[in-house]
Amino acid sequence: MRFNLFDHPIVAMAADRLTGYWSWTEHVPFAFLLIDLLRPRMVVELGTHSGTSYCAFCQAVQKLQLPTRCHAIDTWKGDPHTGLYDAAILDALRAYHDPRYASFSQLLQSSFDQAVDRFADGGIDLLHIDGLHTYEAVRHDYGQWLGKVSDAGVILIHDTFEKRLDFGVFKLWAEVEDQFPSFQFHHGHGLGVLGVGKHLPPAFLEFLDEARRAPEGVREVFAALGRANSAWCQLRLAAGRLFDQQAGINAYKRQIGEMADPQWQDFSSALSRPLAYVNYTIDQVGALVRHAADLARRAGASK
Ligand SMILES: C[S@@+](CC[C@H](N)C(=O)[O-])C[C@H]1O[C@@H](n2cnc3c(N)ncnc32)[C@H](O)[C@@H]1O
Repeated sequence: MRFNLFDHPIVAMAADRLTGYWSWTEHVPFAFLLIDLLRPRMVVELGTHSGTSYCAFCQAVQKLQLPTRCHAIDTWKGDPHTGLYDAAILDALRAYHDPRYASFSQLLQSSFDQAVDRFADGGIDLLHIDGLHTYEAVRHDYGQWLGKVSDAGVILIHDTFEKRLDFGVFKLWAEVEDQFPSFQFHHGHGLGVLGVGKHLPPAFLEFLDEARRAPEGVREVFAALGRANSAWCQLRLAAGRLFDQQAGINAYKRQIGEMADPQWQDFSSALSRPLAYVNYTIDQVGALVRHAADLARRAGASK
């Protein structure tokens, strides 16, 4: 059969996880599609940080009600490209992840090398490699984990189109892309899709056939879906941040005898119409600033 995007409405699902880190956000629609195409028994991610990619895999697994097991591996300490970071990143990820996904997913705080022996050879159907992006590091991660990928398995490699600084994933990609059926997206720093298993799922092969028949079309469509996802996430993140300021705004309004607008007092309504909420908050802040300036002027005049 021929691949038909309209058979996979999951690509249009909005990402739930809002992280404020954007390097992977434009690939989320493809992550949703890939889970639908592969229906993997096991997903492993090397390099999770705040969880944009990993939570996209988990969201799709949950939406499709698959019996998939997922594992995220990271020291959650950082590397020379992300910079070192503190425990707040993992704490925030756990607070989001555990109530939603802990029944089928595990966050494993470890180096990739220390974790590798915990996984059986040939057991992983989807491996996402997104650790340190120097050539030496990604070559090492790829070599260490290739044997863990199953007969039906696919490897995703992020940052394959990035050539800044000492980024070297593109060199690894050049070495491996012809060894297996593959496709590369160029947007979002590049995402390589490598079908390493000998018996890949037919739905995935149909997608690859279509991607290789019309590569520019497939790249354009997924770049546009990615931009839309990113824009929607950014808007909701902005609304969420303003929502956090709402308590202070409401307290000030109470002091001056004004009521808070009841339609905007819960988080889900703020996130469901983020632009309207951003405008509402900006208007309120403007009114309160004018009120405070007026008070200050009157206080000055009465001196
Ligand atoms: C580019 S970030 C991952 C981004 C993430 N996939 C996303 O969606 O935003 C890379 C992560 O890999 C982790 N990392 C790098 N090398 C590692 C290693 N050898 N073992 C464990 N974690 C590592 C870093 O701590 C960092 O959090």
